[in-house]
Amino acid sequence: MRFSSLFSSASTVALLALALGVNASDVIDLTPDTFDDTVKPESLILVEFFAPWCGHCKALAPHYEEAATALKEHGIKLAKVNCVDEADLCQKEEIRGYPTLRVYRDGEFSEYSGPRKADGIIAYMVKQSLPAVSTVTARNFTDFKQGDKVVAMAFLSSENDEIASEFSTTANKHRDDYLFGLTTDKQVIEEAGVTPPAVVVYRSFDEPETAYPYPISSLTSKDLESWLKDLSIPTIDEVSAENYQIYASSGKPLAYLFVDPSDEKLQEHLDVLKPVASKYKNKVNFVWIDAIKFGDHAKALNLNEPKWPGFVIQDLSNQLKYPYDQGLELKTASLDEMLELFVTNNLKPTLKSQPIPEVQDTNVYSLVGKQFDEVVFDDSKDVFVEFYASWCGHCKRLAPTWQSLGDHFAKAKDRITIVKMEATENDLPPSVDFRIAGFPTLKFKKAGTRTFIDYDGDRSLESLIAFAEENAKNSLEPREPEAQPAKTPEAEAQKEVHIDHHDEL
Ligand SMILES: *[C@@H]1O[C@H](CO)[C@@H](O)[C@H](O)[C@H]1NC(C)=O
Repeated sequence: MRFSSLFSSASTVALLALALGVNASDVIDLTPDTFDDTVKPESLILVEFFAPWCGHCKALAPHYEEAATALKEHGIKLAKVNCVDEADLCQKEEIRGYPTLRVYRDGEFSEYSGPRKADGIIAYMVKQSLPAVSTVTARNFTDFKQGDKVVAMAFLSSENDEIASEFSTTANKHRDDYLFGLTTDKQVIEEAGVTPPAVVVYRSFDEPETAYPYPISSLTSKDLESWLKDLSIPTIDEVSAENYQIYASSGKPLAYLFVDPSDEKLQEHLDVLKPVASKYKNKVNFVWIDAIKFGDHAKALNLNEPKWPGFVIQDLSNQLKYPYDQGLELKTASLDEMLELFVTNNLKPTLKSQPIPEVQDTNVYSLVGKQFDEVVFDDSKDVFVEFYASWCGHCKRLAPTWQSLGDHFAKAKDRITIVKMEATENDLPPSVDFRIAGFPTLKFKKAGTRTFIDYDGDRSLESLIAFAEENAKNSLEPREPEAQPAKTPEAEAQKEVHIDHHDEL
């Protein structure tokens, strides 16, 4: 009963649409045959790549329909590609998730980063259809320069100035990121106190006005782009999931102040760091971070005590960590000194290390960070290292094979070391030329060298043995080890002293 009434009401709508002679949808369906011919000629078109089974796509669908209808009067088209029916097209377009929304301009796309509700889509697309650079006059200059967190203004004598085209190239690329305005109005130029040609950035944080500091005559869109990127990062902002990417992609090291956000002295702590952040911000980005929420991150950066505020510099590209001594109070002068050492490459990173094991009781050497140089860079030996993580399932599966590999070469121990290292508990020293990106990672170092060969083969014992034999500089023929010196109380006592000494390191 219910089924049939649903059925009939749906067909009523369809019949009505048919009777009125309207197309039920204003969204264009694209296929490989129509894609280029539809998308390329449009100065602005939004395309959704979707899969019928995807929940977010279903939620978006009615909004997308509504927006398509509303945007018709603005001459803006909306289209969609069903990636199940048109798998080849979606693969060619390198679609990696659903829905993917792209704004195409004359065939070139940028990711759609707007809202997913009808009114939001409409507003976003109308804004996209306006010129990337707004014309600013005396009437709206004051409002305009406060219109966004970062507003770039070009002050020119004429709109034909060469700078205008460089400016507009950057504006077209970054219209979602910043606001761009251009004026030739003498009154505005006077009010701004600049001599054209000039470019000034107005910000809602830090210094409110910054003029382009280099010779403006040779300004290129690229220069402008990187200058704006720098200015868009505040001297000290709170870092979170939303803005982390800006820092990760900036290419600069990242200095963190870990603070408890409920600490009433939060502002005082920030004030201690602020002069240092202003001084070094061209070379290092500074942020503060919720130490309670991101306590694990603090630990990963070698701030081992849950003691706040804490400060640490992370060299993102080399995965090195430079924590401020947690036993000392944070002071502007000492932070300044630390940053000076850091930017002149005179600061030593701290390396995380488990304690050195008291005994090595198997044929696989359990390596910790502190012993890395000593064991791996022992020039007399070939070394085969497994970097693993305790939580990693593939590593657990490899463990018995790796043990057998150690046993296999037990009689060549003076020439080859089979090593394992827990790489989440032990940092690599800066002297090695690689970083761990996955687990397990297997690397071979030939005797007498400092470079590592990747092992990419299968994880069978036979393949591992063959690889070691093929790459070893030493001969790995088994040889009976030399007789061990007899155990004497003296020798044992010396061994203990030796261990104690190591533990202090
Ligand atoms: C500023 O006002 C002028 C008219 O004086 C107008 O043409 C221009 O579009 C306005 N710009 C903005 C950003 O509103």
